Amino acid sequence: MKRIAVFTSGGDAPGMNACIRAAVRGAIYHGLEVYGIRRGYNGMISGDIFPMNSQSVSNIVQRGGTMLKSARSKEFMTPEGRKKAYENLMNAGIEGLVAIGGNGTFTGAEVFFNEYEIPTVGCPGTIDNDLYGTDYTIGFDTAVNTALEAIDKIRDTADSHDRVFFIEVMGRDSGYIAIQSGIGGGAEIVMVPETHTPLKKVVSTLKDGWSRSKSSSIVVVAEGDEEGHATDIAEKIKNQVADKLDIRVTTLGHIQRGGTPTAYDRILASRLGLGAVEGLIKGYKNVMAGVVNNEMVYTPFIDTIKKPKPIHDDLLRMVHILSM
Ligand code: F6P
Repeated sequence: MKRIAVFTSGGDAPGMNACIRAAVRGAIYHGLEVYGIRRGYNGMISGDIFPMNSQSVSNIVQRGGTMLKSARSKEFMTPEGRKKAYENLMNAGIEGLVAIGGNGTFTGAEVFFNEYEIPTVGCPGTIDNDLYGTDYTIGFDTAVNTALEAIDKIRDTADSHDRVFFIEVMGRDSGYIAIQSGIGGGAEIVMVPETHTPLKKVVSTLKDGWSRSKSSSIVVVAEGDEEGHATDIAEKIKNQVADKLDIRVTTLGHIQRGGTPTAYDRILASRLGLGAVEGLIKGYKNVMAGVVNNEMVYTPFIDTIKKPKPIHDDLLRMVHILSM
């Protein structure tokens, strides 16, 4: 293998730049030529593929977003789109890929590999932390800290006004950001897609708190919760507590995807970017590099997408016990 390319795809995540930097410099260190692809699979299809060198990734380790830009490509889901992508990669002489992204990225990589067999190693880059095969994904730690900072600020005003706040955090199918920021922020209730929290339980917990003279309550809701969005949940319960509790809703949204990556994310991303390149050199293909129990492991894409990554029951139990 002489020439590889690196790209970022799907929702961006803080630390993706550190991962690109590690992949580029790791490849150069090992004597490979390295190219960048802009806007993920869309750039593969349009041929936006360009040579990179060590200076191309100077001064990015600390930056949020992704210097290669990102996209969710609809065209790559079609056989015609993937054929164009393959032809462009062949024209550029690309023999291996480092794909930085989440489950959509790896689903695309899996299909592409089965059709065209270009060796690909993935790096888990998503704030959702929803990929099997790694303890943490790049961007998750930063997103949790961003959410936590917002929760702390909301707690100040909630406490001043004796209010209940429903705070929605990201996580389409995953409650990892919700549970971690909820525990860190001392939330009274955390609602995650992995476990059903009945609304009557939400009402009774809030009423209990009020009867014990709690001056504020925070309910952290993962956007993918089966009871709906934070606004829907607040609307559904408001009549049951209206005489006693004053409710407000805040949706944190894309603020969680931006910002300076934490030290943890930069280090994880650097490790995974280098690990992906070294995996390609060792002959791994169609796998994601991950860190499990502090060891680098390579997990088939299909497992990273299909296998569940449950939230430990202890964490949910803790929310209840510690918010008494
Ligand atoms: O996958 C990361 C994520 O931020 C999810 O938490 C969220 O549901 C989704 O992306 C939002 O995607 P978009 O920015 O395309 O609306």
